[in-house]
Amino acid sequence: MLFTLIVLLSLHLVVEREVRSKAEAKKSEIEAQMWRFLLLLQTWLLIFCLPFSICLASPAPWVMRISCGSRVNVHTPPTNTLWYKDFAYTGGIPTNSTATSYVAPPLKTLRYFPLSEGPNNCYNIKRVPRGHYSVRVFFALVAHQDPDPNFDNEPLFDISVEGTQIYSLQSGWSSHDDQVFTEAQVFLIDGTASVCFHSTGHGDPAILSIEILEVDDRAYYFGPEWGQGVILKTVTRLSCGNGKSKFDVDYSGDRWGGDRFWNKMPTFGQNSDKAISTENSIKKASNAPNFYPEALYQTALVSTDSQPDLTYTMDVDPNKNYSIWLHFAEIDVSITGVGKRVFDILINGDIVFEGVDVAKMSGDRYTSLVLNTTVAVKGRTLAITLHPKEGNHAIINAIEVFEVITAESRTLLEEVRALQALKSALSLPLRFGWNGDPCVPQQHPWSGADCQFDRTSNKWVIDGLGLDNQGLSGFLPNDISGLHHLQSINLSSNNIRGAIPSSIGTITSLEVLDLSYNFFNGSIPDSIGQLASLRRLNLNGNSLSGKVPVPLGGRLLHGASFNFTDNSGLCGIPGLPTCGPHLSAGAKIGIAFGASVAFLVMVICSMCWWKRQQNILRAQQIAARGAPYAKARTQTTHDIQMTRHHNHGYARTAAENGPSLLS
Ligand SMILES: *[C@@H]1O[C@H](CO)[C@@H](O)[C@H](O)[C@H]1NC(C)=O
Ligand SMILES: *[C@@H]1O[C@H](CO)[C@@H](O)[C@H](O)[C@H]1NC(C)=O
Ligand SMILES: *[C@@H]1O[C@H](CO)[C@@H](O)[C@H](O)[C@H]1NC(C)=O
Ligand SMILES: *[C@@H]1O[C@H](CO)[C@@H](O)[C@H](O)[C@H]1NC(C)=O
Ligand SMILES: *[C@@H]1O[C@H](CO)[C@@H](O)[C@H](O)[C@H]1NC(C)=O
Ligand SMILES: *[C@@H]1O[C@H](CO)[C@@H](O)[C@H](O)[C@H]1NC(C)=O
Repeated sequence: MLFTLIVLLSLHLVVEREVRSKAEAKKSEIEAQMWRFLLLLQTWLLIFCLPFSICLASPAPWVMRISCGSRVNVHTPPTNTLWYKDFAYTGGIPTNSTATSYVAPPLKTLRYFPLSEGPNNCYNIKRVPRGHYSVRVFFALVAHQDPDPNFDNEPLFDISVEGTQIYSLQSGWSSHDDQVFTEAQVFLIDGTASVCFHSTGHGDPAILSIEILEVDDRAYYFGPEWGQGVILKTVTRLSCGNGKSKFDVDYSGDRWGGDRFWNKMPTFGQNSDKAISTENSIKKASNAPNFYPEALYQTALVSTDSQPDLTYTMDVDPNKNYSIWLHFAEIDVSITGVGKRVFDILINGDIVFEGVDVAKMSGDRYTSLVLNTTVAVKGRTLAITLHPKEGNHAIINAIEVFEVITAESRTLLEEVRALQALKSALSLPLRFGWNGDPCVPQQHPWSGADCQFDRTSNKWVIDGLGLDNQGLSGFLPNDISGLHHLQSINLSSNNIRGAIPSSIGTITSLEVLDLSYNFFNGSIPDSIGQLASLRRLNLNGNSLSGKVPVPLGGRLLHGASFNFTDNSGLCGIPGLPTCGPHLSAGAKIGIAFGASVAFLVMVICSMCWWKRQQNILRAQQIAARGAPYAKARTQTTHDIQMTRHHNHGYARTAAENGPSLLS
């Protein structure tokens, strides 16, 4: 690219000079025009090519290295590699680490996750560009001030990447160089890298470092089954005929190789083979997509006269698929060309490559050849045999073995969010350790959440929530309705307060709802009456009040079991008190207004009555002075008091003011 740019630039200068000279010489106008056009074309080409050349200039892979437990960024020799200070963890405790193996990066700290913080803990690294990555985790041992020889501080735990379990530590790992880390190639497509550690009851997971190293999009492509649904877990990498284990960086390998670790393999067994090496350079070693270090092909094992077959045997987990990568380069001076060395390759006795002629297939001597095959292994052994057919000796430079793991489906994102909302609203204790994915790895689901695989969405969903008797407080959030697939909720015997969210009524599959023995208050949302499948509803032992939704009363007739006892004042269905008139706020205002008006009218009337009483008395006194018979009339006074409507005069007959007016 740089070369093209230089050519274009020099061409540009030449053309420009030509244009000037032609213009000065006032040559034919057409010729001058032509040169000007060329100049324009050149300029445009330059403008277009510049950004391209910048883009194409070999970009660096995306790399994130974390020194767990460290409060500062760390640089390590020999390449001054940068390890970021600790971040992105869900919990745990930082402390000093003990060096386990020279293979591990020389970092002084670790982060461990005590069981009191729950069985699942993670590093969730955000803003990871979508791509193909090699993810590597080194384990560690906690450094103790006074080491107790009887104290077993070698923790055993499981590791998952993006919800797929990739490794279980085996006891004795801390004394085996090739077991102090685990590594897998995985596609990261959702912007985060989630690496989780799952307790198995054997000590607290302790992590030294995490590396997320971008590799080529098609690195280790092994056939049509390869892709986003597949994780390649490194089982081993062997550099044959080599006496020292090395990383890619120690071989000055390409950064796109993912800084692989190559175990030394000086021999496959006593006297069965012979190590050879060369100083010659090797062609085609560091090519895409895998960018192997050249030095890998500069050593090899060849079979001896006494033992023509070259066999490498290793222990593996049974009933798994393995992707096997075999590396060759004809570096043996005694092999002068094509046809001099031909061999078959067998895996567990089956021929996988027939008539391999390295010099022929790679195109030349001192040229790399990589063969890969995927095999299903039933037993616990993997045996790779090279069986010579021509030349009586076989050769091999390196071996890589990966376990092919089918990536787990994750939990439906909406349900994960709902559970996370629940976790904070209910102040879920730390010991629950709700970190990572709720349902996967299947060996380590969140406690309290029951998972089910949903074939329509191809995701995991939550069908049961069992958090009874866990000392939970807080409130039940509306977000609970995000758990669409719930069939059963048991939150019995906690200290949950506040209202029952009405959104619960949208979980149509709900059959069992047990909120008994909490401090729920307010009324039962009407929406719960709409839950057609509900057959057990325990709301007893709360502070609920108000009317029970009518449909629930009807459901009781159909054999459902509902318990509403021990609440503040529930009413309205058979077995509970009948409810008082149900009044809306408007009605209450109306009644209050009516009562005030009535009171006012009563006050006014009393005043009128009192006034009239006074008048009557006065009239009687006047009449008594003038008419003696009027005295007898005063006996009917109380009748007159009751007349309100047609009482215009003082004098009334007793007949007129009969008892009928009293009503
Ligand atoms: C870790 O080691 C440093 C010295 O290297 C020491 O000062 C510090 O106290 C240690 N921390 C713990 C938690 O042991
Ligand atoms: C691995 O082998 C398959 C054929 O089995 C081939 O298609 C593929 O290109 C090989 N991968 C690499 C990276 O060479
Ligand atoms: C191994 O691969 C075959 C074919 O791709 C597949 O059917 C089988 O389930 C795989 N086995 C395991 C254990 O992954
Ligand atoms: C809910 O859990 C409690 C124990 O805490 C249990 O007694 C009760 O039966 C459970 N409710 C249902 C509906 O299963
Ligand atoms: C329910 O209890 C909460 C406090 O826990 C209180 O704020 C709220 O007003 C109560 N609601 C009703 C309807 O009593
Ligand atoms: C309902 O709950 C009360 C306690 O609140 C309990 O005594 C009673 O047995 C329960 N009834 C049924 C039918 O389970």
